[in-house]
Amino acid sequence: MSKLKVEGGNPLCGVVDIQGAKNSVLPILAATLVSDGECVIEGCPDIRDTHTAIEILEALGARVTKHPGYMTIDASSAGRYEIPDHLMRKMRSSIMFLGAILTRNRRALATFPGGCELGQRPIDLHLSALRKLGVQIDEAYGVLDCRHDGLKGCEITLTFPSVGATENVMLAAVKAEGLTILNNPAKEPEIEDLQSFLNKMGARISGAGSSRIVIQGVKKLSGVTYRSIPDRIVAATYMCAVAGTRGNALFKNVVPQHLSAVLSLLSDAGCEIRCYEDSVFLECSRLRSVNPVRTMPYPGFPTDAQAPFMALMARAEGTSVFVETIFENRYKHVGELVRMGANITAEGRVAVVNGVKRLYGAPVEAFDLRGGAALVVAGLCAEGETVVSNAEHIYRGYENLIGCIGDLGGKISAED
Ligand code: UD1
Repeated sequence: MSKLKVEGGNPLCGVVDIQGAKNSVLPILAATLVSDGECVIEGCPDIRDTHTAIEILEALGARVTKHPGYMTIDASSAGRYEIPDHLMRKMRSSIMFLGAILTRNRRALATFPGGCELGQRPIDLHLSALRKLGVQIDEAYGVLDCRHDGLKGCEITLTFPSVGATENVMLAAVKAEGLTILNNPAKEPEIEDLQSFLNKMGARISGAGSSRIVIQGVKKLSGVTYRSIPDRIVAATYMCAVAGTRGNALFKNVVPQHLSAVLSLLSDAGCEIRCYEDSVFLECSRLRSVNPVRTMPYPGFPTDAQAPFMALMARAEGTSVFVETIFENRYKHVGELVRMGANITAEGRVAVVNGVKRLYGAPVEAFDLRGGAALVVAGLCAEGETVVSNAEHIYRGYENLIGCIGDLGGKISAED
């Protein structure tokens, strides 16, 4: 079990270069399967989830070659259609490969996806959309056996703007016969990024970021070179760490617009923020509570930033109320923050955070990716030493976490 040792109390100051977006790169890696040529993906973050995505591509028969700063993916030999169960269980986004495999093959076999346990996380929206596109899906003994005789464009309306279901539809419809109209899709920046990647290959997709995506199926898609957008959640996490330690930093390689809900709350909390074209400067000397912190689909406040922001509010002046509307079980970090001296009560989807003057270092456990990152944020803001166990969760999404925090003057090291 990996552990992270964090010594708190130092203001974090300096410059952080933000990595490529995990939630963009994962569907983009799946999308390389629908290309008829070789794809070059630049700036792919070196994190556990991208390693899992590469293992899935290789299990399907694709050739992946890593170079410093980029990787090439040649899917021409990806004739296999079964995603191994142990890889499905490693991360939720393994389900995205289903749409891409079905564009390549008439059959796909997968089991139910794993990933962070944030509640039930059903895949009903994915499956009903694929069925509408002409896929017959048999679910038995935990296996999804998907078959089709040619995918056909259709009109699909999602009852909730699911990010993953939107991406699966785009990947399954990109070469389907005719027109697919997707109503009420997710509007996250990562959806626009997937559209840009597919269109660069020659796809005809429009409307990503709006409430209707239109996909005209095409016959061929060429190989392309692509770099994903920056990771807005990693940026938000480091911003919370800098603000919480009353530091100041320049965040390079960010799209300020993607962070607008987070920046707006950080500013309400007392941070001084200056936005530039592709960077943000943040400084904080005093923190007050903000209300309410309600997670919403984009452009609302991201559920993935809820835990790091709660770690920040734990030591702000006043009381903040959090309402988690996306996932029903996303407060597992609360009990760990309380071990560090935080005054938080959570019931159902609501958490009430009464800011305290001090947090104290303690042994704590990461139960999921962002909750684990929140414990690192809290550890940096606390007095004394915090040891975060189960740090594997954090490595799923943060590239060179120890180096990035160390460059800002934070004291953090790996303990095995
Ligand atoms: C993606 C992100 C994740 C983020 C989440 C919400 C990736 C790799 N992961 O996850 O970091 O927290 O968006 O912004 O991009 N739902 C259903 N049925 C379905 C699908 C989803 O009921 O078939 C529900 C989920 O249980 C959840 C909500 O819809 O309550 C949002 O899920 P969704 O947008 O699909 O999230 P993911 O794509 O899994």
